[in-house]
Amino acid sequence: MSYTTRPHDFRDKDAGYSGLMSELTGLIGGERDAIANAANSAALLFDALPDVNWVGYYFLKERELVVGPFQGRPACVRIAIGAGVCGTAAQRRETLIVEDVHTFPGHIVCDPASRSEIVVPLVAGGRLLGVLDLDSPRPGRFDAADARGLERLVQRLVPAIAAAAGGDAAE
Ligand code: SME
Repeated sequence: MSYTTRPHDFRDKDAGYSGLMSELTGLIGGERDAIANAANSAALLFDALPDVNWVGYYFLKERELVVGPFQGRPACVRIAIGAGVCGTAAQRRETLIVEDVHTFPGHIVCDPASRSEIVVPLVAGGRLLGVLDLDSPRPGRFDAADARGLERLVQRLVPAIAAAAGGDAAE
C-alpha cells in the first residue's frame, strides 16, 4: 500500500486540524495494533504539519516516560515525570506550549534545532498513558489553535494507542 498525505492548509488552523482528523480516522480507523497506530499517526502529523522537526510519543512505563514511535532525529529515551517540557506536561496533565525552549527551565535538548514545543498529555479514564510531543525549529510556532486541534486528535488517538503504554499507567 502506498499512502500520500493529503495537502492541508494550516493558514486556518482549525480547518487544517479538521482535515487532519478525517485523514487520521481513515488511517488508523480499521487497525487495532497500538504500535502501528502510534507510528502511523506520528508520521502523518510530521508529514502534514508545517515547520515541525520532531513529532512523537513518550509512553509511561515503570513510572517514567519512555520514547515511543516518532519522526525526527533520535531522541532522549527516558524522561522523569516532572522533568523537561514532556515530564512537566505529564505531571500537570495539561497541554504545555513553550514559545522559546531556551527560556524553559530544565528543557531537555534532543535536537538543537528545536526552538519551540507543544506537549499534549495522553489520558484515558483518568490514567496517564504518556504524552504527544511536537518540536519546531521556529520560535513561537505553536499557539492555542494548535493546542485545540492536537487535543482533539489526541482524544481520537488515545483508544487506538493505549495498549502501547506500559501496563502500569498512573492512576
Ligand atoms: N524537549 C523535550 C524532550 C523531548 S524532545 O524534544 C523529542 C523536553 O524538554 O521534555
